[in-house]
Amino acid sequence: MLFDLVRPFLHAVDAEQAHRLTIGALKVGVHPRQGEPDPTSLAVQLFGLSFPNPLGMAAGFDKNAEVPDALIALGFGFTEAGTVTPRPQAGNPKPRIFRLPRDRGVINRLGFNNDGHVAVLGRLEARAGRGGIVGVNIGANKDSDDMAADYVLGLAAFYGLASYFTVNISSPNTPGLRGLQARAPLDDLIGRLIEARAKLTDDGDAPTPLLVKIAPDLTDEQLADIAAVCVERQVDGVIISNTTLSRDGLEDANAGEQGGLSGAPLFELSTRVLADFARATERRVPLVGVGGVTSAETAYAKITAGASLVQLYTGLVYDGPELVAEIKRGLAEALERDGFRSVAEAVGAKL
Ligand SMILES: Cc1cc2nc3c(=O)[nH]c(=O)nc-3n(C[C@H](O)[C@H](O)[C@H](O)COP(=O)(O)O)c2cc1C
Repeated sequence: MLFDLVRPFLHAVDAEQAHRLTIGALKVGVHPRQGEPDPTSLAVQLFGLSFPNPLGMAAGFDKNAEVPDALIALGFGFTEAGTVTPRPQAGNPKPRIFRLPRDRGVINRLGFNNDGHVAVLGRLEARAGRGGIVGVNIGANKDSDDMAADYVLGLAAFYGLASYFTVNISSPNTPGLRGLQARAPLDDLIGRLIEARAKLTDDGDAPTPLLVKIAPDLTDEQLADIAAVCVERQVDGVIISNTTLSRDGLEDANAGEQGGLSGAPLFELSTRVLADFARATERRVPLVGVGGVTSAETAYAKITAGASLVQLYTGLVYDGPELVAEIKRGLAEALERDGFRSVAEAVGAKL
């Protein structure tokens, strides 16, 4: 496999440089392509969208919407651009992405480096009409006076172009951002976004789905509060989870780096929070499971714990793009083995 040949090279260079090289390769079309259409058992109907399969590229990989079409061609059922902030932002000083090979994890403290609304909008406009489900993950500038207003700007900027929106209030690398998960600020933020959305939606059109992405580092009370707001406000979905600040059980020398931890060490925690949230909302809010998906088994575990869709990022760092086809093959097999005709039938089967 191509990735087996290039991985030693990619892992020999700085993680952020390896990411730039990967984006460059995707831009010029050097990547595997999906051969056959996905099996019908993998199709998911959700939010008024038809996902060919439940596996999506998580936010942060294609922050600036440079390669959404390549990611779809590679076999992802959907992809999420961003996080995008209103104004361009450089992020934290480098180095700021660290591999933890012994733990098959990554720690990042990027701090929302991105090209800003105008540049990302230009790229999404240039590909409009090409099909494929492309969500836009929106955030707030680090030096913003009114973070909630930044999210409203994001919604307005990308309305009509985004297949769905993700409200990212869970990055650990922007001071104060996670505070938006508390009950009152969250209720205010969601209220403002839903009001803005109503104004942006033409009469007779369906509103663009609004999803909220949460952290895995929450107390039971915090989780119950978020669940209550999401049910009351009827948000379309919740993505669980972003990276963690916890460092339990790590062995790698890079474990002491500051930032958010992703990959295999995040799997248990994020899957537990996913299941807890599914129970707390009595499964009334569709969920997207993300965190440590590295195989068909871990993807299937997210689904049976309550996720209608699954996303991944760090798994690709260690296993390469072939992982996408491998997970989809294994998922279809697991559904058949357990007597489910569709992903939807398996959602929450183990709750
Ligand atoms: C380098 C890096 C950058 C990320 N940037 C973002 C981001 O901009 N917005 C966001 O919502 N999540 C971001 N994430 C979090 C991922 O979308 C995902 O929630 C997390 O990594 C857990 O999934 P994984 O274990 O499959 O990587 C980032 C993750 C990594 C590793």
